[in-house]
Amino acid sequence: MKIGFLQFTPDFGKVHQNLVKVAGLLDAVDADLVVLPELFGTGYLFRNKTELMNLAEDLSGETAQTLSKVASDTGCYFVAGFAEKDRGVLFNSAMLVGPDGLVGIYRKSHLFDTEKELFEPGNTGFRVFDIGAARIGMMICFDWFFPESARSLALAGADIIAHPANLVLPYCQTAMPVRGLENRIYSITANRCGSEERGGQSLAFTGRSVIVSPKGETLAVGPGQGDSLQVIDIDVLLARDKKPTKRNHLFEDRRTDLYRL
Ligand code: ACM
Repeated sequence: MKIGFLQFTPDFGKVHQNLVKVAGLLDAVDADLVVLPELFGTGYLFRNKTELMNLAEDLSGETAQTLSKVASDTGCYFVAGFAEKDRGVLFNSAMLVGPDGLVGIYRKSHLFDTEKELFEPGNTGFRVFDIGAARIGMMICFDWFFPESARSLALAGADIIAHPANLVLPYCQTAMPVRGLENRIYSITANRCGSEERGGQSLAFTGRSVIVSPKGETLAVGPGQGDSLQVIDIDVLLARDKKPTKRNHLFEDRRTDLYRL
């Protein structure tokens, strides 16, 4: 199976222009699954809820339509972060789309910092979608900080965690190999880069998108700055072997009787 990331720097608020650019970068992609960053079409630093409301989309919006078209043209599945407006309620979400259109969505469970003033906390929980070649779970950026996110997806049967991100802290890229190892799963963290200065705030995003193996190996890394499409070959079955030794099983050996605190 071929999996990858598209590290991408959106121009804030220029959704149509960003989508055209991304569609161009992906139009000849040779992969089964490619992950894009969190909020890849809108940018991140909304001045207020009104601005976010005006840029957010539902599942019939231009973002879902554009990605579905690229998926149908290339045969590739995509996971991508977007600002979701569901009957006036705003979520920081990710969509999984494939050649036949929308497969599923995930709404970010652990909102980061000022996101708490803009979005509702996600209500989908950690779900897994079977795309044939693999079972895909989604989490978004700061969700990584809570090991329960990756664990919940692994327990639900995910082979690969698709992880759109807009990372501003320096820890995630070095932490994801541990999430891979402790759950024996693949993960694809698709980060953005560049910076945004809006409404008196400024943020710099850290690039270095990363693909990690069930053995905790770093299989691919993006540059610190600049757009980058990287695709690698993996053996999905490695993620279904949960035995680090003959006598240990990652899930069956859990001492849930001791974890109550
Ligand atoms: C983040 O969750 N975007 C840091």
